[in-house]
Amino acid sequence: MIGIFDSGYGGLSVQKAVMQLMPNTPIVYFADHQYCPYGRKSKEELIERAFFIVDALIEQGAQLIIVACNTATAAAIDTLREKYDIPFVGMEPAIKPAALASTSKKVGVLATEGTFSGKLFKQTKEKFAQGVEVIIQEGVGLVELVEKGLMGTYKAHQVLYPIIAKMKAHRVDHLVLGCTHYPFLKDDIQKMLGDKVRLIDPSPAVAQQAQRLYQKDESKPEIKKYYRFITSGLKVKEYRRNILQLLQLDEENTLFMYE
Ligand code: SIN
Repeated sequence: MIGIFDSGYGGLSVQKAVMQLMPNTPIVYFADHQYCPYGRKSKEELIERAFFIVDALIEQGAQLIIVACNTATAAAIDTLREKYDIPFVGMEPAIKPAALASTSKKVGVLATEGTFSGKLFKQTKEKFAQGVEVIIQEGVGLVELVEKGLMGTYKAHQVLYPIIAKMKAHRVDHLVLGCTHYPFLKDDIQKMLGDKVRLIDPSPAVAQQAQRLYQKDESKPEIKKYYRFITSGLKVKEYRRNILQLLQLDEENTLFMYE
């Protein structure tokens, strides 16, 4: 079983990619709704949450865990790898593919404050963006839009407008979606930027890395419910409805829990 976690629904963009690549692999997903959003939380708090969540996922049977949140990856993945014996896959700021493919040599990155201030972002930028101008922008309010299901609405347009205007003004030809919530706003963003700008979603690459590292434990019995979803928020009913809609799943083979 693969474990996946995020502050909320964003990590489902990664779960989708994993389900496409490994359709027969059971998944347990943890949305940390009580602490969402993660974007400006301290490293210490995020590490504490990561320990709590990873313990819960392992208890459910997770043998590999995807930290499907760029902010939590930046804050906690090194510490998780030191503490636990199982493999962890984190989110990469996808600057490399954007920089390689850019002809204007101007790429944009949308992410949270926590992601931009982490060493992973700085290292990736230094290593892969030589000769390329990287325009960064905090996606203030975007996580909240996705959590409230406001994709495709006028409100989404209003929140996105100043963020995307900056990318337009700099004439980027690639835009990295550096938070797992943002792929759910892909259509809104693409409409504003126009077809010539390519959006980079790192989820498929993360799913491929998970597939490479995942080794099914054959000694574990088959589980009955294939896809399990845990939330630390209290609204399990709403959680169920949103998950089924975002992943286009039917309820058969799913289990919803509160932690
Ligand atoms: C957040 O919860 O604020 C963002 C999660 C992410 O960075 O993917």
